[in-house]
Amino acid sequence: CGIVGVVGNQNAKEVLLQGLEKLEYRGYDSAGIYLIDDTKQDHLFKEKGRILALRNIVRQDVEASIGIGHTRWATHGVPSVINAHPHQSQSGRFTLVHNGVIENFTKLKSMYLSDVDFVSDTDTEVIVQLIEKFSLEGLTTLASFKKVVSLLKGSYALALMDKNVSDTIYVAKNKSPLLVGLGEGFNVVCSDAMAMIQVTNQFVELMDGEVVTVTATAIKIENAENKEINRLPYTAEIDLNDLEKGTYPYYMLKEIDEQPAVMRKILQHYQGEQQQLEIDSAITETMLASDRIYIVACGTSYHAGWVGKQLLESLTHIPTEVHLSSEFGYNTPLLTENPFFIFLTQSGETADSRQVLVKVNELNHPTLTITNVAGSTLSREAQFTLLLHAGPEIAVASTKAYTAQIAVLAVLADVVGKAKGLAQNFDLVHELALVATGMETIIDEKERLEQLATEYLSVSRNAFYIGRGMDYYVAMEAALKLKEISYVQTEGFAAGELKHGTIALIEEGTPVMAIITEESIAGHTRGNVQEVKSRGAHSMIIAMEDVAEEEDQFILPQVHSLLTPLISVIPTQLLSYYTSLHRGNDVDKPRNLAKSVTVE
Ligand code: G6P
Repeated sequence: CGIVGVVGNQNAKEVLLQGLEKLEYRGYDSAGIYLIDDTKQDHLFKEKGRILALRNIVRQDVEASIGIGHTRWATHGVPSVINAHPHQSQSGRFTLVHNGVIENFTKLKSMYLSDVDFVSDTDTEVIVQLIEKFSLEGLTTLASFKKVVSLLKGSYALALMDKNVSDTIYVAKNKSPLLVGLGEGFNVVCSDAMAMIQVTNQFVELMDGEVVTVTATAIKIENAENKEINRLPYTAEIDLNDLEKGTYPYYMLKEIDEQPAVMRKILQHYQGEQQQLEIDSAITETMLASDRIYIVACGTSYHAGWVGKQLLESLTHIPTEVHLSSEFGYNTPLLTENPFFIFLTQSGETADSRQVLVKVNELNHPTLTITNVAGSTLSREAQFTLLLHAGPEIAVASTKAYTAQIAVLAVLADVVGKAKGLAQNFDLVHELALVATGMETIIDEKERLEQLATEYLSVSRNAFYIGRGMDYYVAMEAALKLKEISYVQTEGFAAGELKHGTIALIEEGTPVMAIITEESIAGHTRGNVQEVKSRGAHSMIIAMEDVAEEEDQFILPQVHSLLTPLISVIPTQLLSYYTSLHRGNDVDKPRNLAKSVTVE
């Protein structure tokens, strides 16, 4: 979910709607805004679906200079107008938006609010009803807000308005991100600087436990001990052009096309004066002192982590494990004596990954976040950060962040490996330059991939990607990409494992896409393709030049064996894109998903 707020000399309605449009990546099930207009009348607008649907129901004639808004990714309660935020207290005096999950809301409800009629199924409504309860008992709005905040367990970014105090927004945060943006004669609040970059680039970070009073001309930050905090703003460096689609029909296609440029940008950022690759030497030293690397991530980043394992083990000889964040936190593996943690996260905000980071920090182990977003929560809270330099990724399905993560992991592995005296003959700068050119070659073959998507995937309900080694890691990512935007149920399978059960699912016409990039596994994977073909599968082989055969359906330009995923993933991204497009889906905003999932 994402939240916004504005107070001061701005057109609040427009600032909120535009801000929410920028935050749609955090969820787009339902949305709402609350405004107090210049005659002190208040207005609440909520709608199911996208921000556009909300925009269509907001009354044109309302002129307001204060308001709050929310875009939702449903947790408690189905997506509906009733469950959409903002939520109001019984009398309508207090209005609240919330991002996060309150763990003790049922307990709070039964302890304090047994006589209140609830309108929605949300944990959020409990907060706002409780604020009203304490204020009826005589507390000021701020005191009541603080008291409620002190009772909450879980994650939250909150923005509260009181109808009787029409010049103030009260905000608080714990675990969920929240920023205050500073303007001339106005101030804003938002989950992500991107939401308000059109009105200001000056932002103040908020820390867990803080409560802030925001008016048009001032912000007052207080910590949990009621101590006033002074914190300087930082300048958010976001290029507005990066947030536009330009002539592209969808962000996903734009982002696929940007990948060669991203590879070059990464080289540029990590090259020192002598053209050799460089990273903060403290990272190298800490990694050299560690006996095992633990990569922790979710979704596409988790798949990039598997490629990272291969890169790190090959180039640094440090054993590396890859873990799903949501499993690691509650099912922690036995750690070695000197572990080093890498958090892979495009957004830097994923709650599942963050909860692991919090635990690892408590254990005082070294941590590195590899992320696309400077200043994001996981970047701030880890000891070290390496940036992806991929530019904002807007499409929910991750493409350029995946390849950027692999490239940055390669840089890391290369620098640490070389510091250890290993991999001296591996010229990553040269190899990545070849990758960038190879990516361009594939991107130029869009028509062929569109044709293959039509031929293989236009009607099928399920599909498989298979591969071995690096190709298996890419198969997992390729399957996720196809699933999330085309809704074709797809499995990414280890080619050799298919015959041990799952092959039972192969029927006449089932699409099976095999990825083959390496000599040592080519024969075996081709054998597996024969096995499924003889059971009726409609097979497609995506093979790299050196191991390709003439009849293969798609041939990939040759690159170094450690970097093949950067190339083999590209046709799979385009196959997903065209399948989704031809099925008439919303490519950039697939159903049920959010780009950044800020709840555990
Ligand atoms: C969400 C997105 C996925 C993404 C995952 C991890 O589920 O829909 O595309 O891979 O989060 O996101 P992160 O920002 O941590 O890489």
